[in-house]
Amino acid sequence: MSDITKSNVLSSLKKIQSDGFDPNILTLNSIQSLELKSNELSLKLSFASQVSSEELKQKIEAQIKSDFPSLQKINIQLQTRSTSSNISTHNDPKKDAILPGVKNTIAVASGKGGVGKSTVAVNLAVALAKDGAKVGLIDADIYGPSVPLMLGIKDKPKVYQAESSLRMLPLENYGVKFISIGVLVDDKAPIIWRGPMASGAIKQFMTDVEWGELDYLIFDLPPGTGDIQLTLVQTIPLTGAVIVTTPQEVSLVDARKALMMFNRVNVPVLGVIENMSFFIAPDTGKKYDIFGSGGGERICKELNVEFLGGIPIDPRIREGGDNGVPMDYDQSDSEYARIMIDISRKLTEQVNIRNANQNDKIEIIL
Ligand SMILES: Nc1ncnc2c1ncn2[C@@H]1O[C@H](COP(=O)(O)OP(=O)(O)O)[C@@H](O)[C@H]1O
Ligand SMILES: [Mg+2]
Repeated sequence: MSDITKSNVLSSLKKIQSDGFDPNILTLNSIQSLELKSNELSLKLSFASQVSSEELKQKIEAQIKSDFPSLQKINIQLQTRSTSSNISTHNDPKKDAILPGVKNTIAVASGKGGVGKSTVAVNLAVALAKDGAKVGLIDADIYGPSVPLMLGIKDKPKVYQAESSLRMLPLENYGVKFISIGVLVDDKAPIIWRGPMASGAIKQFMTDVEWGELDYLIFDLPPGTGDIQLTLVQTIPLTGAVIVTTPQEVSLVDARKALMMFNRVNVPVLGVIENMSFFIAPDTGKKYDIFGSGGGERICKELNVEFLGGIPIDPRIREGGDNGVPMDYDQSDSEYARIMIDISRKLTEQVNIRNANQNDKIEIIL
């Protein structure tokens, strides 16, 4: 029998099947408190959606009894809450100094350009926001900013004079606050910046923009693993990174390099997202593995990181990007939107596990 820890109780809860109850939404943070006193377990659980029924309570009790047979009594309290309070905070003095209202900072990176990193960053931000999280997005790809186009807003942000400096309000669409060099400079002029200027601009996006309270601030990094990327990941106080790859070997080789880069600077890789995983022909429904299959899962196994999910090739994703209407916003009942929500919840789970490990807060009161 395994020890009664939060993570073991979580594994037990994930086996439960009940109407209207989605075990995928469970994270370590769903267990608000766990108290064990002489074979009596008291559990306070909180869920993001309305699931607190008597039937579910009984199922939880039965599952826990069967997984931890030494328990004599189990008291369960269920409560519901918004997704925002479902997301834990990365405690980091460096982050708190620059971004005091931001719980977590996530880099979306890729070893190669053109794998759909910006598309994934934008759709992921929208999926998180749709699920109730407060989300910001910094277009840190200052050499090829595409977030304004993909979010359909190219206005200039409002600037105002604060006590001692100029402050900027982020732009906002689809529930996502964002800033990009693309809204500050003429997009026909090439941006010829050196590395230190690039990291200076990203620093200003963190310090001079009024982000307010956010669960996630996502960074769309420039592709690659060169000096500029390395400087950026050291400039931004990161909770973790997500790597986007396509399934074929040329992209995977570079995804491995990106993983190594984050390891080198001690930024945890929260998972890998495989984009352009497969194509379903709309006329026949037949599945084609255009760029091969299983590559993303393979490197996750090899390098011991989480596989967050695979996104299909779909012309509507490209159209959504070009037209400034992210597909998971516009077609929110599509299979694609479901995949993005799944990926965003897996990411939240990884963030919560990372924060719980870091804070060493898996407490059992004996
Ligand atoms: N899953 C997908 N299906 C169809 N088109 C996609 C998909 N992912 C990305 N694209 C398209 O591929 C192009 C490159 O994507 P982009 O996100 O700009 O890549 P990156 O930021 O990695 O350079 C864009 O035109 C985008 O709309
Ligand atoms: Mg891009």
